[in-house]
Amino acid sequence: MPTERKSIHGQWSSRFVFILAATGSAVGLGNIWKFPYIAGENGGGAFVLVYLLCIAVIGIPIMMAEVLIGRRGRQSPINTMRTLAYEENASRHWRLLGWAGVVGGFLILSYYSVIAGWALAYVFRAGSGLFTGLTADGVQSIFSNLVNEPERLLAWHTIFMVMTMVVVARGVQSGLETAVRLLMPALFVLLLLLVGYAWNSGSFHQGLDFLFQPDFSKITANGVLIAMGHAFFTLSLGMGAIMVYGSYLPDNASIAKTAIAVSVMDTLVALLAGMAIFPIVFANGLEPAVGPGLIFQTLPIAFGHMDGGAFFGMLFFILLVFAAWTSAISLIEPAVAWMVENLGMTRIFAAVLAGLITWLAGLLTVFSFNIWSEVKPLSLIPVFAESTIFDLLDYLTANIMLPLGGLLIAVFAAWKMKRESSVDELAMGDGFFYWLWRFLVRYITPVAVAIVFLNAIGII
Ligand code: TRP
Repeated sequence: MPTERKSIHGQWSSRFVFILAATGSAVGLGNIWKFPYIAGENGGGAFVLVYLLCIAVIGIPIMMAEVLIGRRGRQSPINTMRTLAYEENASRHWRLLGWAGVVGGFLILSYYSVIAGWALAYVFRAGSGLFTGLTADGVQSIFSNLVNEPERLLAWHTIFMVMTMVVVARGVQSGLETAVRLLMPALFVLLLLLVGYAWNSGSFHQGLDFLFQPDFSKITANGVLIAMGHAFFTLSLGMGAIMVYGSYLPDNASIAKTAIAVSVMDTLVALLAGMAIFPIVFANGLEPAVGPGLIFQTLPIAFGHMDGGAFFGMLFFILLVFAAWTSAISLIEPAVAWMVENLGMTRIFAAVLAGLITWLAGLLTVFSFNIWSEVKPLSLIPVFAESTIFDLLDYLTANIMLPLGGLLIAVFAAWKMKRESSVDELAMGDGFFYWLWRFLVRYITPVAVAIVFLNAIGII
């Protein structure tokens, strides 16, 4: 029997709306900004293969676990974990998993918002025709001019945070639905257009080879950890975002089909972005491993040379901002839902407060690209020798907190919840597919995450 609980924050009007919202959360800067640049830094093909494997055998099963826990608890992740731990006779400490998610969400959003600010800035740069006819050098200097100035980054970061808080304050449902319904397909079409441009760039094959020809000599143990961390990041897993969205999911919706649909769409967007970017990288003699500026230094070249490039460029960055927007709200929703439930705040007040804290933390990232660009706090550790504060924040959240959070979510769903509870919530019968899911989250996920960690630290 499903529980009789209802969420006090409301419910999605259908499974389809949930798919839209979860896809909106999953598809974001992770797919279009982060995936290409980390694939570039970690040698391409082998990295992409590990990432795809992680999506299939770790990501999809954990997404199902997160949705099922969320829907059963029907509260913010902190209270959901507390309630379910009680019902399933597990330790009270499981609620700390909800807390870890809240902290992780703040930290991720703090830098996510700064990067989304770059995309906002590029809407205007593209629209004004600034990229027309530019070469790789010109495009690079436009990028450095932006990130070298803390005031500019701060202004764009502030605007993006305000946009995020406005949607969160209004409640996740209104506004979000239309945004995702129209804009996600549009983003998809624009990416196809860019792949079409890349096709004619003269280096399409080189780009594809880089992405899809695995060369295992190019990937390090740390690279494998980054690929796994990114599987969590790109699917929004491991910190309660999908759990809180699951808490608004109607009882009769199939969790497995939903998780697969969301993951497939997310992966397609990332691969399309890679296929658009790498041919441009090679056709213009650029370096795949330039880091976080990669898309901002490649795509403008394409827009600068195609017919109607100012228009398409502006449209592309607008859509990228929307993709980031629908992701950002899911990063802060667990914290806001908890503040409303436990601190008796109004949604508006909770959103403003959460936004302020995140905005402040965002200053660390803003300064990482200019006045603190030479600050390398962990330079004594070889893998972090070159890491700025932003790099460390990204590493800590995506490669450590999310996999650990995901691991614990898997352990809770597969080891701590009674079999009846998960059979009941997943509603796909007690046959092979249920067995497969449970096997993956019980054994494969914990073992895989542990091996990748130990391997990255150099223990095995
Ligand atoms: N998945 C989003 C992206 O790819 C980012 C994101 C949104 C996220 N919510 C999350 C990452 C929760 C980790 C956890 O851009």
